[in-house]
Amino acid sequence: MQYGYFDDRRREYVITNPKTPVKWINYVGTLAFGGIVDHTGGVLICKRDPALNRITKYIPQLPSSEFKGETLYLRFKQEDGYKVFSPYFVPTLDSDDLYECHVGLGYTRIVSEFYGIRTDVTIFVPLGDSRVIRDIQITNVSGQPLEIDAIPVVEYTHFDALKQFTNADWVPQTMQSKAYHDENGLLILIQYAFMNRDTQVNYFTSNWPVSSFESERRRFLGDNEYGTWANPLSLQEEELSNYEALRGDNIAALLHHLGAIQPGETARLITQLGQDESVSPALPAIRRYRDPAQVDRAFDELAAFWHTYLSRLQVETPDADMNSLLNVHNPRQCHTTMNWSRYLSLYQLGFGARGIGFRDSAQDVMGVLVSASKEAKELLRKLLDVQKRDGSAMHQFNPLTMVANEGDSREMEDRPKYYGDDHLWIILAITAYLKETGDMAFLEEAIPYYEKSKDGHPLDSGTVLDHMQRAIEFTQKDAGTHGLPLLGFADWNDTVNLRAGAESLFVANLFGRALLEMIELAQHLGDAEAVARYTNYYETMKQRVNDHAWDGEWYVRYFDADGSPLGSHSNDKGQIYANGQSWPVISGFAPLDRATTALESVYRRLNTRNGIKLSTPGYDGFDPVKGGITTYPPGAKENGGIFLHANPWAIIAETIVGNGDRAFEYYDQINPVTKNDRIDEFECEPYVYPQNILGDEHPQFGLARNSWLSGTASWAYQAGTQYILGIRPTYEGLLIDPCIPRKWAGFGVTREFRKAVYHIEVRNPDRVCKGVKSISADGKKVEGNVVPIFGDGKAHRVEVILG
Ligand code: NOJ
Repeated sequence: MQYGYFDDRRREYVITNPKTPVKWINYVGTLAFGGIVDHTGGVLICKRDPALNRITKYIPQLPSSEFKGETLYLRFKQEDGYKVFSPYFVPTLDSDDLYECHVGLGYTRIVSEFYGIRTDVTIFVPLGDSRVIRDIQITNVSGQPLEIDAIPVVEYTHFDALKQFTNADWVPQTMQSKAYHDENGLLILIQYAFMNRDTQVNYFTSNWPVSSFESERRRFLGDNEYGTWANPLSLQEEELSNYEALRGDNIAALLHHLGAIQPGETARLITQLGQDESVSPALPAIRRYRDPAQVDRAFDELAAFWHTYLSRLQVETPDADMNSLLNVHNPRQCHTTMNWSRYLSLYQLGFGARGIGFRDSAQDVMGVLVSASKEAKELLRKLLDVQKRDGSAMHQFNPLTMVANEGDSREMEDRPKYYGDDHLWIILAITAYLKETGDMAFLEEAIPYYEKSKDGHPLDSGTVLDHMQRAIEFTQKDAGTHGLPLLGFADWNDTVNLRAGAESLFVANLFGRALLEMIELAQHLGDAEAVARYTNYYETMKQRVNDHAWDGEWYVRYFDADGSPLGSHSNDKGQIYANGQSWPVISGFAPLDRATTALESVYRRLNTRNGIKLSTPGYDGFDPVKGGITTYPPGAKENGGIFLHANPWAIIAETIVGNGDRAFEYYDQINPVTKNDRIDEFECEPYVYPQNILGDEHPQFGLARNSWLSGTASWAYQAGTQYILGIRPTYEGLLIDPCIPRKWAGFGVTREFRKAVYHIEVRNPDRVCKGVKSISADGKKVEGNVVPIFGDGKAHRVEVILG
């Protein structure tokens, strides 16, 4: 079974069967204004924060057949009343003659045919704007004239998204709607929570005279809500009631009589769902976007934005699925994670204090640097804003208020209130930013630490470099009985929550990687004292890891507070962890023989045809000492599931030891594009990485969940472009160090770097995995494998021979 296909020429995935196994979504706009559009037209929209300023009510847990957030009804008269249907399939579920959902870059286009009516709807947020536009083109293909009415409908939520579901007294008393009669019979239906009446209103409007409207759900569905979204009783009436809701469940339904549409003729209805302080400041733009030419222009600008965004790095490899992923879908997913962190998806619901994750967004930054370095810098500033004076970091924060918290550690009183890894990721992100941009002045920028006085003033501030140094010093001092870094509440693996005093090998290795970055930076800055200090830290930690954590065939993953290992052959369950092996290679702590032995163990013990499991065997029963990991059955999520985020780290580690065949095997087996042919097993969107796939200890091996918002996006992009294709920014230039399958004859990459374009052609005449024999740039020999910074706004031809 297939539900659609990739249209690489248009950079779209086209869904052709609306009954996908789960909802497949797309993102429109950004966190500044935007959200999710599902493939049957439902939307979850917010402005700046899904928890604190949500606009539409979208309940993912309801069955897929249900109305969610927004729909469109069309109707025409029949002898016994109106035939009412939705061109999005949901919620009326009529049988279609044609259904296509084009999942595009920042837009979704749904094309359908029902009852001789072809509807072509493009849904998008214009660049930098605060409205969702639906450009609805309705064509009569029935062969005879048809009188058609169009009724787009939105359902609002209280702006405090969680309150909507936890308070059924206050919320409905506050929700109100008002009609604003604009020029030429046009209508703007506004909606607000009473406390926001004068400061923040949602609006829904169109470019066609509204003959009547409805703003209360109960009236729209009819019969005291024993009417349904599949068959709203009010749509059997000639007109809606023009009721301005004073409380209750607010909707906006606008009834348009499109009149008699002749065969072949098209009516174009444009709706806008937006938010502003009040109607008056919103009016100029509302009026502008009623003009179809302006909508076309905004859509063209969006297309141009994505064209430029993607053109900054394009690849041409012998593998078509890799090309599709690296040229379109993977960078697009990275853009999405940069915006939404782990905050808003169909699985991460954007309620309460979840907010932007410190470690998550630091890693997301690393996936967008080639195309969105300005936005990345903004995000880095926000992250540094929630770093604490002692160098550790708050775990997450609300982007609207910048109020941060300690994450799940708040739920267990006797556990540390920090995560051992959070603050170290920022070093990787900042140095990646510096290498990409050369913006060394950023290091001198002063940014406050998180702690504030009672009246809200920061208690301390430091330069960006100071923030990095404090992050290192925190971990340097925070050591346990083996001299290894303490775990804190958890490290990258949120679900292993050991007693205070436990040590983490993941943090040890991340510390090692961060130290390598600090050493390289200090060398670049000419700071010999810092080079010596960090080298000393590095060598000491390397020694400790190798003295204590080698288990014979792999490295252990943790030491519990009593000194007993987890991730050792001596354990019954959780004997080996994937990150326990990839990271000692990434940190450079593992000597080559241990590195290859440990990676071999990953292949032998953890690899499956659907990806590398995070650990094995899965814990089989709840154990309060180990915490969250044991709440999952074996094979699910962190408990022996294929947690995709960890896969690119194994890929990177394989490239470091020079095993290009295996690196590519790992890359290919998790490429979502390849899942299109096995979609009944996989179930999620084949155009993005999911967070997790059930492992082979689970009866539903291969089933994916939690698509879109995963660190897999950033790391798979880095693994593909910087380690397999091997093109990495450094302070001195562009490093070329591919590690590819030996059967490849070569590949090409076009990449922007420091204001010049590099057309890189790599040839592999000797069919090796790794090893650069020669490089020339514009015909001149390059010594070593770092191509210089040209910075001249021009294109340069780089020829590389492997061997
Ligand atoms: C998802 C969380 O967002 C991320 O921060 C964490 O590293 C992984 N789960 C693994 O537990």
